[in-house]
Amino acid sequence: MSPRRIQTRDLLISLNRGDGARLGRQLEEQLREGIRTGRLAADQQLPSTRMLAQDLGISRGVVVRAYAQLAAEGYLLVTQGANPRVGLVSSAEALAGAGRRERKRGWRFDLRPERPDLTRFPRREWSRSLREAVRTASTAELGYIDRRGLLQVQEAIAAYLRRARGVDVDAEHVLVTAGSTHALTLVARTLLREGQKTLGFENPSNLVLHTLVRRTGLEPVGIPVDEDGLVADALASVDTRSVLVSPAHQFPLGGALTVERRIRLLDWAERIDGIVIEDDYDAEFRYDRVPIGALQGLAPERVVYIGSTSKTLAPGLRLGWAVLPTRLVDPVSSELGASTLHQPAIEQLAFADFLCRGEFDRHLRRMRASYRRRRDHVIDRLNHELPPLRIRGIAAGLHLVVELGGETEEETAERQATAAGIAIDTLSKHALPGYTGPRGLLIGFGATPEPTIPRAIHALAQAVPASP
Ligand SMILES: Cc1ncc(COP(=O)(O)O)c(C=O)c1O
Repeated sequence: MSPRRIQTRDLLISLNRGDGARLGRQLEEQLREGIRTGRLAADQQLPSTRMLAQDLGISRGVVVRAYAQLAAEGYLLVTQGANPRVGLVSSAEALAGAGRRERKRGWRFDLRPERPDLTRFPRREWSRSLREAVRTASTAELGYIDRRGLLQVQEAIAAYLRRARGVDVDAEHVLVTAGSTHALTLVARTLLREGQKTLGFENPSNLVLHTLVRRTGLEPVGIPVDEDGLVADALASVDTRSVLVSPAHQFPLGGALTVERRIRLLDWAERIDGIVIEDDYDAEFRYDRVPIGALQGLAPERVVYIGSTSKTLAPGLRLGWAVLPTRLVDPVSSELGASTLHQPAIEQLAFADFLCRGEFDRHLRRMRASYRRRRDHVIDRLNHELPPLRIRGIAAGLHLVVELGGETEEETAERQATAAGIAIDTLSKHALPGYTGPRGLLIGFGATPEPTIPRAIHALAQAVPASP
């Protein structure tokens, strides 16, 4: 049975030409919202790019780009010669779906920011820990376990976080989760239950995180970011009692939250009895300075600390944690219990074994050196291949930012890079409404082996518009 084609008027698109936001962005957001809320049902056909452009009185290129973006996110299914169809509706499904399509597409170079080098996953050492876990797990550990995790695993994680990140934690405050996004959604649901309506986000910050939080029912609100991280003073004028920050390495701009801002942020939280969620997503990879300790260490009862093995080992493990203030331990753990009962015990035990054997530290040392070389190489090639452009966010992590003149340059670079088979992200993709900061490309080097870097950056340079 062929799905019904929806008419433009039924899409309820209303473009505001006087609004600062680009028409394409408005179109994208309204379609995304329609799909997310279920107004546009899975499999429903949308008008062709030509038809929609004509009906809305905008250029076809704007519609093509909006459809392409939504297809990349998994919201639309685009097949040559057919009208686009609405894809799976849940954001998690959308993200997984995007992964499936990307594999088919086969990028020449993958410069997306969030990817570690999965070819270096320590398979032998992890297998050994897994075997050990299976061999030594008690019968009780093979049954239903505490929803927070196994105590010896909570202890191993707490010891690592105290030592490596300066987190003020004991085992009782650790919740084992399926990654930091999982931890974030559990905290968001808890805040919602407490009656909160919004969650503050750095603007820009990771699109995936906005999407997941919005799905819980909390509304993300953007707070400006500059070189020194979140502009903490701006919180006073925002209607929220909780905020998500990435203090060690702001995603995506790359700054580290200064000491002064840390203090102001915690003062704000104290004053309004608020909660700060600290996303320590890639803090293990810091290259030019000593690691910056976790914000949580300054105020353990105000800060929820979340982290995972997605950058250090592999996202596919789905292994992460939250360190919770005392008052949130029960409600957040019970959110986890209500959905999955607990995280798989064998993987938990394997990770504890991996940590205790020192394999995690050895792997981090190897990867830190390797990523640092890649970063230096990328900077060198960018300086060589591109006109003088501002490069920022180089002190840590698996990506850096190349600033471009504005949205037009960013859009052109993204389009041309995609056409050349380069997977890339832009700053705008991660912006929330009201964003007025720089535009540019995020260049990930985690998944690009060193010998490939010169070719990848050369290909990218062809895509970047010449500077004015
Ligand atoms: C800013 C940020 N936080 C967190 C994560 C990791 O999420 P998870 O631990 O659920 O894989 C990512 C993943 O790309 C990220 O970019």
